[in-house]
Formats: sequence, C-alpha cells, structure tokens
Amino acid sequence: MLIFRTKSDIQRHLNAFNSAENKIGFIPTMGALHQGHISLIDESVKRGLYTICSIFVNPTQFNDKRDLENYPRTLDSDIQLLEKSGCNAVFVPSVEEIYPSEDTRKFSFGNLDSLLEGKHRPGHFLGVAKVVSILFEIIKPDFAFFGSKDYQQVLVIKELTKQLNLPITIVPCSIIREKDGLAMSSRNTLLSETERKAASLIPELMKKVKEWKGRGLLISEIKQKIETELAKNPIYKLEYFEVCDKTTLFPLNELTPNIKPIALIACFVGKIRLIDNLEL
Ligand code: PAJ
Repeated sequence: MLIFRTKSDIQRHLNAFNSAENKIGFIPTMGALHQGHISLIDESVKRGLYTICSIFVNPTQFNDKRDLENYPRTLDSDIQLLEKSGCNAVFVPSVEEIYPSEDTRKFSFGNLDSLLEGKHRPGHFLGVAKVVSILFEIIKPDFAFFGSKDYQQVLVIKELTKQLNLPITIVPCSIIREKDGLAMSSRNTLLSETERKAASLIPELMKKVKEWKGRGLLISEIKQKIETELAKNPIYKLEYFEVCDKTTLFPLNELTPNIKPIALIACFVGKIRLIDNLEL
C-alpha cells in the first residue's frame, strides 16, 4: 500500500494513473480505524475499484475543542489494518496541507444544518463539507463510501456533491456493530468499562423502538419511553431522540404509510457522545 502525505505527491501518482481504465473508490476517515471503516474499504475493493483511504482528524468539524484534543490517534495500527484490507493507497495529510489558509467558504444544506446533529453541533457539517470537498478535489474519485452510522452526514455529502455538481457516486454502507449491538465508533475506545457496558442500552432501546412501533405506540409515547429508560441512570444524558422522515430528516409527529421513518439518537454516556439510528 502506498502512503502519501502531500497533495502534490498523491496528485502526481494519480495523474500517471489511467482513470479511463481504473475507477477510484475513496473512503475519507479520521483514523482510529475499526471494522466499520474497513467495511467501507471492503465495499470499494469488492467493486474492483482502485481504493484510496484518507486519514485526517479535521479540526474544522469539531465544535468542542476538548473533543478534538481527545480524539484517538492510532496511525501505526491504522496503517496495518489498511495493509491487510486490500486498500491501494492512503493519504495522511497535515492540517497545513489541507488548510494552507483559512477556508472561508459557506455552504447551506437547508434543514440538514438546523436539525439533529446540525442543531446540536453548530458548524459541524460546514467543517465536514469543507474537508470532504477539498479531499474530493484532490482525489477526484468516481465513488465515495460513507457509513450510515452517520446517517445525516450521508445526506449532507449527497447534497454537497449535487450542489458542487461533482461526478461522484456516493455509496451509503450499513452500520457495523459490536456483539452487543453498539455501533462501532472510534469514540468507543474512550469509554470506561462501566460506560462501555452502559452504552449497550442505546442499541437495545433502538430495537425496542421498532417493537413499540409494531405494537402501534404513538411517536410521543415512544419518545416518552426512551426518556424514562435513560433517566433511570445518571450516566446517560439524552441529547435528542427523534423519529424522522428518512429522506428529509424532518421530525415526524405521527407515522403515515407513505413516509419511511428512521429513528435517530444522540446520547452522552459519561462524557462520551454516541449516536445511532435505525430505519423503522
Ligand atoms: P470517521 O468518524 O472516521 O468515519 C469515517 C467513515 O466511516 C464515515 O463514513 C463513517 O460513517 C464510517 N463509519 C464509522 N463507524 C461506522 C460503523 N460502525 N459502521 C459503518 N460505517 C462507519 O465521518 C468521519 O470520519 C468524518 O466526518 C469525515 C467524513 C472523514 C470527514 O472528516
């Protein structure tokens, strides 16, 4: 696997590459790689694409400075995992390489900016849009793979690609989970043993939501049950739980047959903020 640290090096490599014959599959990440990330690489490799991963902890998408400082960085083991996965090249730029000067561009993603993650992490999606558009410009992939664990991010990236008129196919991939159902996340490594055990309640509750919906409970009743369950232990701090329209993410007050619903949650377990979602 080739490792590139500068834009000029990776671009020189890609310029010498016959893009008519070889299509590029791209997987942007912030490192601390786990099986969730590797499943995206696998999807690209399986499609016979020349597979490029990037590892860059993007400062502009962190609205909490401490979260950025504490973000796990495990480059050596990341590279070992990528070597084994069949990834062809990895791009590991510095902050100066990506942002030689301040990126003052503005993007607008309508409701996606102001709902759920957009509401609770102001500026987060602007930072994601900045970095992903810069990486897309450098790599010029044909396909880019994103995990549905960050469901709203997938919708933002699709919208970004549309607004910038980029010829890139965005491929959403399913959530990879631990044995107890917890969605894999780089942040899981920051949980203490007690917090890690407690975190499994989140996917358990999401499963129950499906069951409650099946039993005909109203969305308001489902929300109430989630709040009650999480309030039983002060280790949890619920940020939001919503049942939304799967395509617009607009919160629903009632279930109707013509709208496909998705449940989304963000909850602190101790100091660690976890997210999850489940299509209902
Ligand atoms: P990061 O959190 O490292 O995630 C990189 C990609 O892996 C994202 O598309 C994310 O949805 C996917 N992913 C993470 N956990 C997953 C899981 N359990 N199952 C399936 N896919 C999973 O998301 C980011 O980085 C950044 O915002 C980025 C897009 C790289 C921009 O900086």
